[in-house]
Amino acid sequence: MKGISEQEAESGKLLYSDENHKFIWLGWSYKGAGEVQANQYLIISGREAVLLDPGGVHVFPFIITNISRYISLEQIRYIFYSHQDPDVSSGIGIFMNVCPNAKILISRLWIRFLPHFGAADTSGVEAIQDSGKTIDLPFSRLHIIPAHFLHSEGNFSLYDSRSKILFSGDIGASVIPENDTYFEVEDFEKHVKYMEWFHKRYMKSNKVLRKWVSMVRKYEVDIIAPQHGAIFRGENVKRFLSWLENLKCGDDILDEIYGY
Ligand SMILES: [Fe+2]
Ligand SMILES: [Fe+2]
Repeated sequence: MKGISEQEAESGKLLYSDENHKFIWLGWSYKGAGEVQANQYLIISGREAVLLDPGGVHVFPFIITNISRYISLEQIRYIFYSHQDPDVSSGIGIFMNVCPNAKILISRLWIRFLPHFGAADTSGVEAIQDSGKTIDLPFSRLHIIPAHFLHSEGNFSLYDSRSKILFSGDIGASVIPENDTYFEVEDFEKHVKYMEWFHKRYMKSNKVLRKWVSMVRKYEVDIIAPQHGAIFRGENVKRFLSWLENLKCGDDILDEIYGY
């Protein structure tokens, strides 16, 4: 993959690091065979950690191995789930088992669905209310920002104020062919073709996109790190937000999607 070494693909890459705080991409867990590629991330702040969208059972051994390179599993204080999709949260039962001190954070809309993913006991789950919330870590404040209908009805992004990285979940996702994979967007115009179909088909409407973009612009964002595909940095963050606020999708192009 362009932009990272083989070692980083295998064991993960620091997107931000200072003496007290780190934001880590947990490696190239994708094994092909028709699955959707997904990124998993870990925030470490002092002695505490937050795991973001760790995914399903089939990536579990890879993710746990890479988390253990940095911290012990007991240090994970929260597991954040942007929404209820299987590539995000279907491994919840097994992750809860191995992270004994972790509280699960997910939209209040999805709590009752979690037993179907193997999380029979939801007493360790904290419902995020629709307006989001903030979480104070030893060296950062996390802002959980509403992103409802983009695409899930109960959906959140997460902004880490120390690293200035926005974890955007499915927003900004790209599906890049295996012969052209790259870690970070360099040519935005070219990158659009790897994002466009997904956003037009999976996102609710331009009105909701604009709502989200206006909220995100209140934060100083250095990097947007999505759950799928390449990350955006610097000027490409701005280009992405401008592209998104002008995109017609979902409700806006209903006839095109339905085909009549
Ligand atoms: Fe999704
Ligand atoms: Fe996803």
